[in-house]
Amino acid sequence: MSSRLDAARPETALAGTSRFRPAIHFTARDTWLNDPNGLVFHDGLYHLFFQNNPYGNVWGNMSWGHATSPDLLYWTEHPVAIACDETEDIFSGSVVVDHGNTSGFGTAGAPALVAIYTSAYKAASEHSGTQAQSLAFSTDAGMTWRKYEGNPVLTRNSAHFRDPKVFRYQGDHGSCWVMVAVEAQHQKVVIYRSDDLKSWDFLSDFGPANADAGEWECPDLFPLAVDGDPANIKWVLIVNVNPGAVAGGSGGQYFVGNFDGVRFTPDDGSLAAPEGLASLDPEAAPAALQQCLWLDWGRDCYASVSFSNTPDSRRIIIGWMNNWDYANELPTDPWRSSMTLAREVRLTAVDGAARLIQKPVLADPGAGEGLPAATDQMNAGNFELRNSSLRLPDGVPGTAQIIEAEILPGTAERVDFRLFGSSDGAEGTVLGYSTATAQLILDRSESGNTRFHGKFASVESAPVELENGVLKLLIVVDHCSVEVFAQGGKAVLTDLIFPSPESRENWLSVSGGSATVHNLTVSTIN
Ligand code: FRU
Repeated sequence: MSSRLDAARPETALAGTSRFRPAIHFTARDTWLNDPNGLVFHDGLYHLFFQNNPYGNVWGNMSWGHATSPDLLYWTEHPVAIACDETEDIFSGSVVVDHGNTSGFGTAGAPALVAIYTSAYKAASEHSGTQAQSLAFSTDAGMTWRKYEGNPVLTRNSAHFRDPKVFRYQGDHGSCWVMVAVEAQHQKVVIYRSDDLKSWDFLSDFGPANADAGEWECPDLFPLAVDGDPANIKWVLIVNVNPGAVAGGSGGQYFVGNFDGVRFTPDDGSLAAPEGLASLDPEAAPAALQQCLWLDWGRDCYASVSFSNTPDSRRIIIGWMNNWDYANELPTDPWRSSMTLAREVRLTAVDGAARLIQKPVLADPGAGEGLPAATDQMNAGNFELRNSSLRLPDGVPGTAQIIEAEILPGTAERVDFRLFGSSDGAEGTVLGYSTATAQLILDRSESGNTRFHGKFASVESAPVELENGVLKLLIVVDHCSVEVFAQGGKAVLTDLIFPSPESRENWLSVSGGSATVHNLTVSTIN
């Protein structure tokens, strides 16, 4: 087992080389991946560690794979960073840059990177049956890692205590490390503090609240200035849940509130079900599920967490673009699963309440606005469509396509984009807006290969209000995925699709009246 793990794998620039391989989403070269782990920016590179099976393309042998990118778009895969062994699997966690050398793993001049991960202990371990938090460190900028001999550093003798996210907290009384992790089956986020990353003290817990039908996993906690106002800081607590998310199966919810260095207190407005949906009358629960705050309303965005140590304090998250309902059966080979695009998150006031908005990173974060790497396929001015359809440039295999538009649905009942459509109209992924219900609907029931799992064919929807009569859309289609950012990222929908190779037609249709379209652009990124 260890001989394959130890074999150094050559660095590979990952491109669209095999069927469905996306152009600008990270996939492992020829193995399985799930959650993003240890997201950290260091020495000019973004590091993406990830749950990886180094031996195959289904879940198992969990280890931390590793990739780096200068721009969050083009990734280079490196050898496995932290490998499973006979006693433990390496479950999800985070990485910090230990600037003050609080752990003693580095030096004051050359800080170590420290990984805080979950040891999922196996039968051969003296801790068998438990999950506990452990450390590994790197003194060569993340390329090689050593496990700390004092592991585990934090145990609760629990079988489901996992997914530590550690950050540096600075408060009125100084600074310390703070960890958020989960008691997954109790729907609780547990919060600890430490001075040296090795010894941890319990502070508080949070939950159950809102979506609590499944296990709580992969939490994150970070501050953001509402609309950029440094006098109005709010804390965002991300809690992934599986199953029981709004589109079915796994998904990410968030809470907005305050963190005082000990306890997270949610704002009333972010609590659709303060004691959790399970506490509600079953009749009331579905409506409350819609009222919870969702990072993504699609089927395929899970385990989203944010980068540490990013320049300019930007808050950038990445999710796993998959759903545990069918994850192991996606029809790709030899790789299986990809990450979402990196998304910059901000807080903005919506009807007086702070809410997340997300913007995909489509350009080098240092390069400012715009899409320097994109090639224009279409740049249409303003036009009206009345009960008619407009053919857009076809999808181009091996490239990602970006469609942007501001649409005034006007008197129309529906405005629909049909993506990766077949020429006979039978196949295609439909992204539609219904004016009657004010819902944005992503329908992949005829998107191509949906038969590999009974739960894959699906229709997702998100409530989206027009703003001054306008629906603003940014759609990124990358071979096997559709990510939709509506109204400047107030609502996001992410779905995987597996279209037939000959289905490349893109159409925009208006039915039941007349709609006006402004600034329609279609571009591609190689
Ligand atoms: C979430 C998760 C985590 C766990 C990891 C194991 O997808 O179940 O809770 O650490 O995956 O691979």
